[in-house]
Amino acid sequence: MHKHHSALGLATAHSTAVTGVDIAKLCPVQPVTLLRPHAARRAARFFVEKFKGRSMYAVKANPSVDLLCLLWESGITHYDVASIAEVRLVAATLPGATLCFMHPVKAEEAIAEAYHTHGVRTFSLDTVEELEKIQRATGDATDLTLCVRLRVSSDHSKLSLASKFGVEAREARDVLMATRQVADALGICFHVGSQAMSPQAYVQAMGRVRQAIVEAGVTVDVVDVGGGFPSTYPGMEPPPLESYFRAIHDTFESLPISYSAELWCEPGRALCAEYASLLVRVEKRRGDELYINDGAYGALFDAAHIGWRFPTTLLREPESEVRPMPFSFYGPTCDDMDHMAGPFLLPADTHAGDYIEIGMLGAYGCAMRTGFNGFTAAEPVIVTDEPMASLYGQRMNPPAAANVIKL
Ligand SMILES: Cc1ncc(COP(=O)(O)O)c(C=O)c1O
Repeated sequence: MHKHHSALGLATAHSTAVTGVDIAKLCPVQPVTLLRPHAARRAARFFVEKFKGRSMYAVKANPSVDLLCLLWESGITHYDVASIAEVRLVAATLPGATLCFMHPVKAEEAIAEAYHTHGVRTFSLDTVEELEKIQRATGDATDLTLCVRLRVSSDHSKLSLASKFGVEAREARDVLMATRQVADALGICFHVGSQAMSPQAYVQAMGRVRQAIVEAGVTVDVVDVGGGFPSTYPGMEPPPLESYFRAIHDTFESLPISYSAELWCEPGRALCAEYASLLVRVEKRRGDELYINDGAYGALFDAAHIGWRFPTTLLREPESEVRPMPFSFYGPTCDDMDHMAGPFLLPADTHAGDYIEIGMLGAYGCAMRTGFNGFTAAEPVIVTDEPMASLYGQRMNPPAAANVIKL
C-alpha cells in the first residue's frame, strides 16, 4: 500500500488529504484500487461494539494482508477461512488469531494441516461423511468445536447460497446427534445468502435452528448466524445494520439454549465493501457505452456476471455540470462477455480520457482480479476521503463527512 502517488511512479504531491481526484490528476494508465483503511476500521468497530456475540471476518471477501491487520487492530480476533491457503495466510499474518474452517466440504489433507500445523479447532460440516473425514484427519481429536450447517432459504438475499451447502431439515437430526457424540462443543451455523436485504432472513433461519435443536434433542454450544450482512449499492439500500443485530439478538434470546450458548456471526461484505473503490480510465466512448480499463476479469466480476450495480463518479476538475445519463461499460479484454450492463449514471459529456471512480468494491471486487489478457492493476493507493456510500452513516461524499456516525 502506498500513501500517495509515488505508487504510480509519477510525481508525488504532499498533502494530508488524498482523494480519488488527486490520483486521477496523475493520469494513471492502469486501474488503481483506492483504499480507505478508516472505513474498514469503522466497520470493524461497529461489529465489535454492537453485535452481542463474536464477529468473525469471512476472509474470502477480501484476503488482503493490510485489511487483515486493520481488522485485527480494530478488535476482530476470529477469522472464517474456507481453504488451506486462507488458513496459511491468516496464520502467518496474525499469529494470535483464532481460525474457524467454515467450508462444509474440505480436503482431508487441508483439515489435517489446519488442525496439526495451524491449531485450528473449529470446523463446519453438513454430512456424517464430512464428520468422519474430520475425525480421521485430526486423529479422533477430542477438542473440536464442530458446527453443523443447516440449509436455509436465501429468499431475502441478492445472492443465493441455498443450493450448495447445508443439511436438509429431515436429515439434520442424524447429523446433529452424530456430531454431538464427537464434538467438545457443538455449533449450528447457516448462511442466509449474501446481501440480505431484511433482518427477517435471520429470524426465519433461526426458526430452523430452533426446530433442529428441538428435533435432535441435543445441547448446542454455539449458534453461528453466518454472513449475509449487507452493504449499500444503487438500488440495494438495506435497513440499518442495527435492525439486523436487534432481530438476531432477540431471536437468539428466545432459543432454548441461549443461557449457555455463544452467538457468532461471519460478516464478509459488511466489513470490507467500503474499504476499496476503483479508479478507471475511459479509453473510448461509443454512444452510451464506455470502454474502460478494468472489467469482468478484474475487480468488476460481479458487475459483469451478476449484473451488480456500483456507484460511479466522474473525477474531472472542474466538475461536469451536464446532467447524468445511464451508461454501460466494456472492460479491456477481447471478450464480448467483458461487459457490465449497469446502468452506471455519469454526466452525459463523459468521454475518452476521463477518469471514473467506481465505489464499494472492497468486498468480492479486488479479491476476484485475474491477469487475463495481460490487463492488471497499478499498486493500490490509500485515500483519506469517505467512501461513496456507507451503512455506517448516510451518503457522505461529497460534501465531506458531516453526517458520519462516530463510534
Ligand atoms: C461460510 C461463509 N461465511 C461467511 C461468508 C461471508 O458472506 P457475506 O460476505 O455475505 O457476509 C460466506 C460467503 O460466501 C460464507 O460462505
